[in-house]
Amino acid sequence: MAGKAPVFDPIIRWYDTLNSVFSFGIDRHWRMLCARKAAAANGHLFVDIASGTGKMVHALKQALHHRSIIVGVDPSRAMIEWGIKKMRYETCTETRVFAVQGIAEKIPLASHSASAVTCAFGMRNFTHLRGGLQEIYRILRPCGIFSAVEITYPHRIFTKVFFGPYFKYFMPLAGNFLSQSRSYTYLRNSVMNFPSREALTGILKEVGFRKADYQELTGGIACLYFAIK
Ligand SMILES: C[S@@+](CC[C@H](N)C(=O)[O-])C[C@H]1O[C@@H](n2cnc3c(N)ncnc32)[C@H](O)[C@@H]1O
Repeated sequence: MAGKAPVFDPIIRWYDTLNSVFSFGIDRHWRMLCARKAAAANGHLFVDIASGTGKMVHALKQALHHRSIIVGVDPSRAMIEWGIKKMRYETCTETRVFAVQGIAEKIPLASHSASAVTCAFGMRNFTHLRGGLQEIYRILRPCGIFSAVEITYPHRIFTKVFFGPYFKYFMPLAGNFLSQSRSYTYLRNSVMNFPSREALTGILKEVGFRKADYQELTGGIACLYFAIK
């Protein structure tokens, strides 16, 4: 399976814990904001791309107030299996949650089928960003919602001074040491090399979304993207 799944495989045991530690627990709140945006969509099929261990799927489950189906798509079998162990992908009475192995660039779902698509901290892992966004556009129903959250390198002086060294040096050092891998260097680089907020909303419009916008979160260290087909 293509994609950057191998980067995440060595850190599965650590992934959920380190995410929460490094973000001081705010990642949960960011996912919930992303889920609430998607939950406004009409219909019953919700798709989470780069679903990993299922944390975003879990947030969606909490945000949806009507009977729905949630499908998580991720190339990493190991991440999915970890999510199943944690009971994030499971079938409950109101909402049914499934996991499918796949990549954003070739989503194994029919065109115009999804009411909303979410993606949390996943876009910067797409091998082809534009290709992945085109696929998301393809599977969405007309008026469907795409809502995504990403870590962004802050551009405001205040957050840059405090968050910059922490993010650039401390997090990769500590993360690599604890997970005994180079994965956290990759994570840092993928954030640094990701298109700017304006560039990304531009690409969303280019692939066809009629409305695309973003909202900075927590002083600009994360960003919530929101687009309508
Ligand atoms: C940082 S994790 C995010 C997991 C989850 N969304 C969360 O909120 O915790 C990134 C995920 O992207 C997945 N991934 C890597 N390449 C991908 C691709 N081309 N398409 C979709 N997902 C991909 C990885 O397997 C990994 O599970």
